[in-house]
Amino acid sequence: MQLERILHTQGFGSRKECRALIRNGRISIAGEEIDDPFVDLEPNGLSFSFDGEIWIYHPQAYVMLNKPAGYECSHQPKHHASIYSLLPPPLNGRGVQSLGRLDEDTTGLLLFSDDGKFIHAISSGKRKVPKTYRVTAKHAVSDEQMATLLAGVQLVDEPAPIFAAGCERMSENEILLTVTEGRYHQVKRMVAGVGNRVEALCRVAVGGLLLPEDLAPGQWRWLSNEDLAQLLGITAGT
Ligand code: URA
Repeated sequence: MQLERILHTQGFGSRKECRALIRNGRISIAGEEIDDPFVDLEPNGLSFSFDGEIWIYHPQAYVMLNKPAGYECSHQPKHHASIYSLLPPPLNGRGVQSLGRLDEDTTGLLLFSDDGKFIHAISSGKRKVPKTYRVTAKHAVSDEQMATLLAGVQLVDEPAPIFAAGCERMSENEILLTVTEGRYHQVKRMVAGVGNRVEALCRVAVGGLLLPEDLAPGQWRWLSNEDLAQLLGITAGT
């Protein structure tokens, strides 16, 4: 594939803009500046540097972000900055979208992709991908409240009770709550529905993929093949 086209697929701008980046000496491969936009390269496995920063060719983008509080999951945020402002321009240039949304004050694992089928498969309710949240509650969480979360909470405007798929105690005021749907303010409404209140909410897992401890709030990284397998619940050898 021609270098100009490779950069275009990776979100570095229009074909014309990518041509200009190359001609202006901003792209190097293996330490050597490349100034021919039409040089033919094998894209798979290609590593290039843009203004000194290393990029690896990815046919599709699958990315995780540790969402900090104070960011809206929207391209047109109303009161806070957009989560998309935390991603580098080429990822936005290739049109990545978040898989579902987290509230402005919710932190933790948020995934992005430009693969429409993948986004649909993970975010649509059909697949019932479990999402686990660390809930810090205002009041001590009673055993009865935990039992009700598992048995089903009837929320206003919902036709049937919503069940937690898992509920584990971490401390007096902290539980790990797993849900398989993604309804509006679902966790906050469920916790309110059992007579408590969410003070802080952090998503710590989607499917089998855990929020990495070394991913600081506001940082993003590419998903590895192993991450993708964990997300989809595919174990080695299956
Ligand atoms: N449930 C909520 O209430 N808020 C979120 O951000 C995610 C799940």
